[in-house]
Amino acid sequence: MLKRFSISLEEKLLAEFDRFIALRTYSNRSEAIRDLIRKGFVQEAWEADKEVAGVITLVYDHHRYQLQEKITELQHELHHHIISSMHVHMDHDNCLEVIVVRGKARKVQNLAEQLIALRGVKDGHLSMSSTGDHLR
Ligand code: NI
Repeated sequence: MLKRFSISLEEKLLAEFDRFIALRTYSNRSEAIRDLIRKGFVQEAWEADKEVAGVITLVYDHHRYQLQEKITELQHELHHHIISSMHVHMDHDNCLEVIVVRGKARKVQNLAEQLIALRGVKDGHLSMSSTGDHLR
């Protein structure tokens, strides 16, 4: 059920908000505000070490000695936290690996940091998202 409430904002802040939501192609302010609130909840879940989900993206050098093995080994050590992974052979030298993870925020973050810090990993990101459980 939807509940309505009103928000008071300074004129300048509202103008900035309208510019912000127009750039992101929101059709109305309510949807934009709902998303911002949910973003806050996702951030809170990560900070409070709750059960979260996310995606680790790695671009790495295919020719680096034993790098592929180290990446696989780390994932096996934390296999309970790995939902799925996809390996793409980008070109002759580079691999792209996308790893979908789930678990306590700190564990997941720690795994991402270890993978990203490996020698030969050229680019790495952790996209922090949610299991969806607390996002209604
Ligand atoms: Ni590859």
